[in-house]
Amino acid sequence: MRLDRKRVLVTGGAGFIGSHICERLLKEEAEVVVLDDFSTGKLTNLEHIKEDLKIFKGKIENYNDVSEAIKGCDIVIHEAFPYGKSGMGLEEQYIEDGVIGTFNVLKASVKNDVKKVVNASSVAVYGIPKYLPINERHPINPFLPYGATKHVGELYCKTFSKLYGLDTVSLRYFYVYGARYAQFDHSAMVNFLNRSLEDKPLLIYGDGSQIRDYTYIDDAVEGTLLAAMKENTLGATYNISYGEGITILELAKKVAKIVGKDVEIRFAEIQEYRYSDECCIVPVGLTKKLDDKWIDERNYAGDISKAKKELNYNPKVRIEEGIKRTVEWLKFLKGIEI
Ligand SMILES: NC(=O)c1ccc[n+]([C@@H]2O[C@H](COP(=O)([O-])OP(=O)(O)OC[C@H]3O[C@@H](n4cnc5c(N)ncnc54)[C@H](O)[C@@H]3O)[C@@H](O)[C@H]2O)c1
Repeated sequence: MRLDRKRVLVTGGAGFIGSHICERLLKEEAEVVVLDDFSTGKLTNLEHIKEDLKIFKGKIENYNDVSEAIKGCDIVIHEAFPYGKSGMGLEEQYIEDGVIGTFNVLKASVKNDVKKVVNASSVAVYGIPKYLPINERHPINPFLPYGATKHVGELYCKTFSKLYGLDTVSLRYFYVYGARYAQFDHSAMVNFLNRSLEDKPLLIYGDGSQIRDYTYIDDAVEGTLLAAMKENTLGATYNISYGEGITILELAKKVAKIVGKDVEIRFAEIQEYRYSDECCIVPVGLTKKLDDKWIDERNYAGDISKAKKELNYNPKVRIEEGIKRTVEWLKFLKGIEI
């Protein structure tokens, strides 16, 4: 399916990923509608394109809001979820935004004869990986309510495809980064970027050998649009990552080098570890204490061969380039001379 002249609803369009998707869709000459409650998203993310969008302020858990925004849409790209706020707490948002919201989006899609729904899922559905790289056949075993919610969304997509013939696809994004990145600090990437620009030491929690597969925003958007255009996916799931892991220690070294400052990189002292509900650095049950050191045993790297083969997804932005572009944006944001 082509995107030009299609009417596309982007839920969560004012957020990090959603705003970039809106930008790309306009370039593809699609008509773009945004539904967002602006809980974590900002109008400033859309400032430069807002004249070309139809923006609805509303909540996906309110069926009437979804029903209003979706009128006449051919495609729905469902990104809405207060991701910038998700942690380990027991917030109702998992049920309200994640479960009821996704159900509403799918129900309204059936009722409005939408041709395709792309659902934002997450690497979090896998839980603690049993092997690397993780392919889509890896067991689903989320350990956070967030991951469980994302899996429920995927299941709804599958059942709506089976029962109502609604064409759906779920994308398991891995660690997306880039300009307009949600500014929460429990991501090593955000933490290192912010601290290095502020001349603060980069603290490594655990032994630094944890692997993460960071996906630059342009690649995540490309994967999302390819999935939107692919017909007859009928509930399929795809990993969307760069397809290459990097250790946290290597990441710190790269960030320091690219920022170009002589920032110190060191292992965190035990008293520097954070344990709050809001922060995932040392999640209970995921780490073990060894010689007074907490080890984060989670390693994530995505196998993207299915997306490559079936969607023609080919991520292009290497981590060095992605960090460089993100640093430029952060410097601009913080008013630091480039
Ligand atoms: N950023 C990542 O690395 C990543 C990784 C895996 C999955 N995801 C998923 O991708 C999607 C987008 O993530 P993001 O990083 O852009 O997050 P974000 O928080 O920047 O964007 C989410 C947007 O949804 C809006 N929103 C939240 N709750 C809503 C509701 N109930 N009704 C209407 N709008 C609502 C927010 O205001 C925001 O604009 C989310 O579903 C997230 O779970 C993101």
